Formats: sequence, structure tokens, C-alpha cells
Amino acid sequence: MSDQAEKLRALAAAHRAQPRVITVTSGKGGVGKSNIVINLAIAVSRMGKRVLVIDADLGLANVDILLGLKNTFNLQHAIDGKMKLRDIVVEGPAGIKVIPGSSGIPHIANMNRRRRQEFITSFKELEGEADMILIDTSAGMTRNVITFALLADDIILVTTPEPSAITDAYAMIKVIHAEKATARVGLVVNLTRSETQALEVADRIAQVSRQFLNFPVSVLGTMPTDPYVPRAVMQRQPWSELYPKAPATKAVKQMAARILNGEENSAVHGAGFIQRVSAFFKTNSQA
Ligand SMILES: Nc1ncnc2c1ncn2[C@@H]1O[C@H](COP(=O)(O)OP(=O)(O)O)[C@@H](O)[C@H]1O
Ligand SMILES: [Mg+2]
Repeated sequence: MSDQAEKLRALAAAHRAQPRVITVTSGKGGVGKSNIVINLAIAVSRMGKRVLVIDADLGLANVDILLGLKNTFNLQHAIDGKMKLRDIVVEGPAGIKVIPGSSGIPHIANMNRRRRQEFITSFKELEGEADMILIDTSAGMTRNVITFALLADDIILVTTPEPSAITDAYAMIKVIHAEKATARVGLVVNLTRSETQALEVADRIAQVSRQFLNFPVSVLGTMPTDPYVPRAVMQRQPWSELYPKAPATKAVKQMAARILNGEENSAVHGAGFIQRVSAFFKTNSQA
């Protein structure tokens, strides 16, 4: 009987969907990625999903600071092979889990073979921990960012209406398209004056991408410049928790709903995150 139960459990585990992995990135820095990751994670968690945030901004990790977390360990310890990824997970607000980052982490592909293998193995342990993994990255087209973007089921590309941010977002789209023509990219336009302005920007980027690359990108959401955001940042607490009615909070809730709604339409999500991680490290292990 217990043997039977064991088998059933194993079967259930094998059929459990793998977490959906979403990487958030941008062409230009300071466009609100980390704020969006954290508050989107909270919104998705409030909708009943188990969410894990990985701070993979290897240059300027700050998710822990934005959340006021007190953590002893971070991604660096996993990369160094001193800790397992699952052992550095800390509890954040609203039930989200966080793997804090560390600034100045060297290129992951520079890890030696043994460490890389250990790192991959620890990713495997995260599979059962979450329904969704949100990965925060740094801006720009570094190999680390592209790696995390390519590993994801979906890429959220954040921009602002500033001309330089738009240009950098488009440059990022080009790179993503060149590396993976099947990538799914959702645009978020942050720090906007009005919804009209936001949608104009999003449409322009989407149109250029369609026209010149034949690469469709969708518009995931827009977020106005909201004075509650810096106010919460100063308090090291997520604004969606402090200010549930703030415009920015409404915006991330909408994004969360859109992401979860899109799940039914997506046949590929969650299929083989670990395989992709492993494949990436295999093809890059000659370094
Ligand atoms: N919608 C918004 N309204 C007002 N300020 C914002 C908004 N989004 C982000 N910010 C501010 O912009 C700055 C950069 O945000 P951050 O999330 O750290 O960007 P990134 O991760 O892209 O570098 C922060 O000081 C934050 O308070
Ligand atoms: Mg950031």
C-alpha cells in the first residue's frame, strides 16, 4: 500500500508543471526593473502562485535592499559552490521567496567545470519550490543578461518613453531575436506621463520590431510615474504592500493578471528550464 502511495507520489511529481521562468531586463538602466520584479512577484503570489525571485543583476544587485531583507548568503555563495541555491532562499513579503544577489559577480560561464555542475544541480532543486521564477537582471547586452533571457519562457523588456531608452530597448530586441527567434517578449513602458504616451511608445517599438525584424513583441503593460514608488523605496518596503491603491500597484496587478491569463494559451511554458540551463552550460563550458 505504501509502495503504491510512493509510486503515485512519484508520478504526481513527474507530472507537476515546471516553474514558468520570466526574465526581466532592459536596454537602459534605471528604468524600474527591480521594482517591477518585486511588486509583480507579490501580485502573482497574492493570486495564489508560489513565486521565487532571483536577483541576477550581477552588477548592481539590490532586490534585498528594496525589500529590507537581512540575508547572510547570496547568489555568490551558490556560484562559489559554498552553498546550495535552495539554502540561500529567504522569505520575502506576501509569501514570495528570494534568492538575493551579489554585486560584482564574475561571468557565470567562467566557473570551473565542477562548480558549474554543482550550480546546475542546485537549480534542479528549485524546480519544486515555485510555480513561477522571476529573474531580475542588469541592463544591457552582457552575456549574463542574454543567458538569463534565453533560459526564460518569457522575457519582459522594460523601457521608459525616453528616446535613449527606446533605442536601447530596440537594440535589445534585435539581440534577443538574433539569439532566439522564438523568444516571447512582452514590453513594459514605465515612468510614463499618460496612458496615451505609454501606448504610443509601446506601439512604436512593436511596430518597428515587426517591420524590420518580422519579430512580434507584445505589450504587457504600462506604468505611470508614481510618487508612491520612491516613497516606498526609501522605506525599503514594496509599494504594492504599502500602497495598495497606488497607480503603480494597479499597473503591476494588471500585468500579473495578464501573465497568468496568458498561461492557458501557452503550450510551451515551463517545459524544461533545467534542460535549458544544462544545455547552456554545456555549450559554454569550453571557456
Ligand atoms: N513607476 C515609477 N514611478 C516613480 N519612480 C519609479 C517608478 N519606477 C521606478 N522608479 C524609480 O526609478 C529608480 C530605478 O528603479 P529600479 O527598479 O532600481 O530600476 P532598474 O532595476 O531598472 O535599475 C528607483 O529609484 C525607483 O524608485
Ligand atoms: Mg535593478
